[in-house]
Amino acid sequence: MTAERPTAAIVPAAGRGERLGPGAPKALRLLGGAPLLVHAVRALSASHAIDLIIVAAPIDQLDLIRNLLDQPDLSTEIEVVAGGESRQESVALALLSLSPDIEFVLVHDAARPLVPAELVASVAAAVHAGNPAVVPGLPVVETVKQVDSDDHVLATIDRRPLRAIQTPQGFTRAVLQSAHALTDPHKSSATDDAGLVELSGQQVLVIPGHEEAFKVTRPIDLVLAEALLARRRASGIVS
Ligand code: C5P
Repeated sequence: MTAERPTAAIVPAAGRGERLGPGAPKALRLLGGAPLLVHAVRALSASHAIDLIIVAAPIDQLDLIRNLLDQPDLSTEIEVVAGGESRQESVALALLSLSPDIEFVLVHDAARPLVPAELVASVAAAVHAGNPAVVPGLPVVETVKQVDSDDHVLATIDRRPLRAIQTPQGFTRAVLQSAHALTDPHKSSATDDAGLVELSGQQVLVIPGHEEAFKVTRPIDLVLAEALLARRRASGIVS
């Protein structure tokens, strides 16, 4: 436990997951027999870096999700609150439920179920070490081109300084709260919390991400996640 550095994790889990195809809200889609959200919460809990987990859930699924997360192996305290219309609003609503003693906040997508607990611990360690905003990122492997509205290429972007950013993203509570307070969720186009923090003028540090922290967005991502989970289970890593 981290009694001297009280740290919460916010898990936005209120998305519909339309790009995954018809079905349950994304966080409740099954992976190896358990919802994506349960895998993500297990990883946060297994990191031993988190004292409190706040899940922002679809408003019509609050009791269902409370029951799903009521499991003996999840020893970390968990709260479930109603999420909003956008990811940003879901995080902002969860921030309102933070107890006053929390000093650090990690935000982790429910849609990244197989994040290694070690990555969660690394982000927490970097923020505890004095970096006010920390995100995991990986080099971009594809060639990246900018196109016009007719899909004609305008430019090829040098990918070497680019990073594909993952979660968990770690912040001091003050930095995250003031970034959210500065931005109207109905007008902002930020797709992650670090984006809001950047707009507030605060520097953000990128640390090495992990391939297994990928986001389940399209049907192929679920196929990959099932294969990875089966490999972990075959090698005795329970999840
Ligand atoms: O849509 P996308 O896959 O980028 O969503 C990232 C995360 O944000 C997911 O875990 C999703 O459940 C969450 N989300 C949310 N509230 C929304 C939309 C997305 O909590 N209104």
